[in-house]
Amino acid sequence: MKISMIVAYGKNWEIGLDNQMLWHISEDFKNFKAITSGHHILMGRKTFESIGKPLPNRTSLVLTRGDFSHEGVHTFNNVQEAFDKARESGEEELFIIGGANIYESLFDYVDKMYLSEVDFEGEADAYLKEIDFSTWDLQEQREYEAIKNEKGDIISPAWNFKVWVKKD
Ligand SMILES: NC(=O)c1ccc[n+]([C@@H]2O[C@H](COP(=O)([O-])OP(=O)(O)OC[C@H]3O[C@@H](n4cnc5c(N)ncnc54)[C@H](OP(=O)(O)O)[C@@H]3O)[C@@H](O)[C@H]2O)c1
Repeated sequence: MKISMIVAYGKNWEIGLDNQMLWHISEDFKNFKAITSGHHILMGRKTFESIGKPLPNRTSLVLTRGDFSHEGVHTFNNVQEAFDKARESGEEELFIIGGANIYESLFDYVDKMYLSEVDFEGEADAYLKEIDFSTWDLQEQREYEAIKNEKGDIISPAWNFKVWVKKD
């Protein structure tokens, strides 16, 4: 089973504030949905609470060290048990979907990264650890422009989508 991570981050590696996302980019949400649909998605308890419900057409695996539970999700105290659940269900590509804590602690397991680099700088309290891309190959990239309202204010920032695979 391949282990992938998918994350959107700002210019200073920021990913969240007050357990919420820092921007609203509808194309990025659509992209996230298209990539993860039909798969197992693994997240920390705080990210699950930020989303608030199981995402449709995906199997939600939630990590907690406590006794958190929620209808429609599978909870695990242990990463390996969560991986086993996905593997035993025949999953071919498991997606780690956050947050900061989970991205950092599971980074060494990741084979493939789907990264949205957002043209955003601002206050945050959750960050991605800086990635050293020298051990990764760029497989795909697409650029998206900012969306402005009629006054010219940016309502949705520009972003670059990149897919990286770990070098052998
Ligand atoms: N920009 C993005 O793409 C993106 C994506 C996802 C999330 N985010 C943001 O990231 C932030 C949340 O990140 P976070 O670091 O605060 O929280 P998190 O990683 O979502 O969740 C942390 C929690 O996961 C559980 N946990 C962590 N490691 C574990 C382990 N080894 N075994 C069992 N349970 C474990 C613990 O839950 P218990 O406390 O229950 O024990 C811990 O408190 C939010 O701001 C969110 O919006 C951004």
